[in-house]
Amino acid sequence: MSMMLAPAPAAVARWRRDWETVMRFYQPGRDEFLSAGLAAVEQTLGRSPERVLDVGGGPGTTAEAMLRRWPGAHVTVLDVDPALLALTGTAMPHVSTVRADIATEQWLASAGGPYDVVLALMTVHYLTADRVRDWYAEARQLLRPGGLLLVGDAMRDAASVVPAPPAGGGADPWAAWWSMLGGEPAMAPLLRQRAAVLTGLACAEFIAPVHWHRDAARRAGFADATVLHQRADHVLVSFRRSGDIR
Ligand SMILES: C[S@@+](CC[C@H](N)C(=O)[O-])C[C@H]1O[C@@H](n2cnc3c(N)ncnc32)[C@H](O)[C@@H]1O
Repeated sequence: MSMMLAPAPAAVARWRRDWETVMRFYQPGRDEFLSAGLAAVEQTLGRSPERVLDVGGGPGTTAEAMLRRWPGAHVTVLDVDPALLALTGTAMPHVSTVRADIATEQWLASAGGPYDVVLALMTVHYLTADRVRDWYAEARQLLRPGGLLLVGDAMRDAASVVPAPPAGGGADPWAAWWSMLGGEPAMAPLLRQRAAVLTGLACAEFIAPVHWHRDAARRAGFADATVLHQRADHVLVSFRRSGDIR
């Protein structure tokens, strides 16, 4: 039997809280984005969703927020990162976790479904433009007819804004969070797994305007693209799965 150290639940709770602080740095108004998304789901479905897939759901903080609002829902968190999925699993054993890489179409085979809602927050920018186009078609296959896709990310012309350095010139909060985790002995085996899994995987830093996403989603069989919330260049857009693609 392995004597692997398991991260203590109290530490996991703290790291997940810190994760949210980091994500709020990159996505000011994050709570408003999520509220707008969850309200749109209820309005579109006319009820709470039964099955939800959070693509690139990381340590499951969004899943937790959804379960607070929809306690009867079955939520699946899919991510390529075994360390983040372990945080989700420790904090919320009742949430399904799936390790899969959305940079290839093979993720579909393990993603389950059909779902009422598929969401991807701050995740599609990891993919190349061609993959994002295909990803829309793949996400559609996971949705029930009439189901809703929520995509939240930076959306603008790639050249229109130069990314600002971290305020005060301090450490990048993302790098600082991972460095903090790297100092935790209980996370060492998971971080070794993570390093192996992420070898060769890079963030494409893909940024495109809302109309690009609308067009890609429409070609993939989605209708009713709706901007639910926008702050600076961060946008949350919903797309409804329409009937069969003609
Ligand atoms: C910036 S984080 C956002 C996490 C979460 N959606 C949130 O808002 O808190 C991006 C997430 O996408 C995941 N990710 C990046 N590339 C991926 C890939 N190729 N396949 C699956 N997940 C990926 C990362 O591991 C990470 O959890």
